[in-house]
Amino acid sequence: MIEPMNALVTGGAGYIGSHAALRLLRDGHKVVILDNLYRGHQAAVDAVRTAAGDKGANLSFVKADIGDTDLITDVVRTHRIDTVLHFAALAYVGESVQQPVRYYDNNTGRASNLLRGLDAAGTVRRMVFSSTCATYGEPGPSDVPIRETLLQRPINPYGASKLFFERVLIDYTAAARSAGRPFGVAMLRYFNVAGCDSSGLLGEHHDPESHIIPVILQCLLGVRPGGQNTLTVFGTDYPTPDGSCIRDYVHVEDLVDAHVRAIAALQAGEVRTYNVGVGKGYSVKEVIAAAEKVTGKQVAVRFGDRRPGDPATLFADPTKIRTELGWSPKHTTIETSVATAWEWFRKNPHGYPASR
Ligand SMILES: NC(=O)c1ccc[n+]([C@@H]2O[C@H](COP(=O)([O-])OP(=O)(O)OC[C@H]3O[C@@H](n4cnc5c(N)ncnc54)[C@H](O)[C@@H]3O)[C@@H](O)[C@H]2O)c1
Repeated sequence: MIEPMNALVTGGAGYIGSHAALRLLRDGHKVVILDNLYRGHQAAVDAVRTAAGDKGANLSFVKADIGDTDLITDVVRTHRIDTVLHFAALAYVGESVQQPVRYYDNNTGRASNLLRGLDAAGTVRRMVFSSTCATYGEPGPSDVPIRETLLQRPINPYGASKLFFERVLIDYTAAARSAGRPFGVAMLRYFNVAGCDSSGLLGEHHDPESHIIPVILQCLLGVRPGGQNTLTVFGTDYPTPDGSCIRDYVHVEDLVDAHVRAIAALQAGEVRTYNVGVGKGYSVKEVIAAAEKVTGKQVAVRFGDRRPGDPATLFADPTKIRTELGWSPKHTTIETSVATAWEWFRKNPHGYPASR
């Protein structure tokens, strides 16, 4: 159990941050969501408040950018924030290749401004940072399952922008330790995050959507942009049992649980790093089959060429987080991720209502 916290959740109007905010509220903590709503949704914040019931009164929302250092200091002081969960980021690999400077600016530069704002306030004792398996780049077959010790060699600006902020956090924590200021950080490298809260109130709404489960569900609902409701499977000649790529899907509730456990364990001066995945991979074809089983509908599929930079198989070795934090995913099959996502998507085929 963690003592009652005053938590700042950056990016809390987005997919994972909103689920984290809800879990913290349910656990009895006070939460401030800070989001510029560039890719987040006011309706997601409202859904968090509703889903939290009476505890929704402990939620505040600030529409702001993480790069606004003075405002961050002000928010942290006003709400006496002691814990930060930093989800806010731009997170499209393809976009990062086309607009690298935006990614370094947002994910490394503005994140550093956030840290300066927290530092000036002087009340924050710990932080959890959303990092990514994209920091590892393209591991060779013998590197999978991926351990935290694998050399990080990102192959796109998204992964690099996250790796650079990991470095900023390592150096900041060392400086705080030397200065005798209590601060610890956990960097969680997520694999593919999937599923939705079991209340059916919180969803996954990225625009454009690039994650396979929501894309499949949108195809089934006939709501893909431009009427493109046929799913393209990129590559069927990979050295995997069915020829399609294999990825590790961690349910968003289990991922959020990893954050809570990391916060509980963190001591001043520590830098902890964990891969968060279930440690088992599903192929694209298996994900499609699971979606067809859950929904009772058939996915229209087109088989295309491989995409450059897509490794055949990626999944985590979660031994470290299991051993050190006692983390164990409750949702271990792809079906539960698909089913909880379907619950939300069939009620919200066009995502959250636009109300920004
Ligand atoms: N979804 C995944 O499978 C996955 C996998 C690995 C890592 N991650 C990481 O997890 C985090 C959350 O991902 P998500 O899928 O919920 O994304 P999301 O786009 O749904 O949420 C991100 C939120 O951050 C906000 N934001 C971005 N830049 C901001 C800024 N400068 N100031 C204030 N708010 C800002 C956006 O408006 C959005 O609401 C990201 O850091 C992402 O890199 C996600």
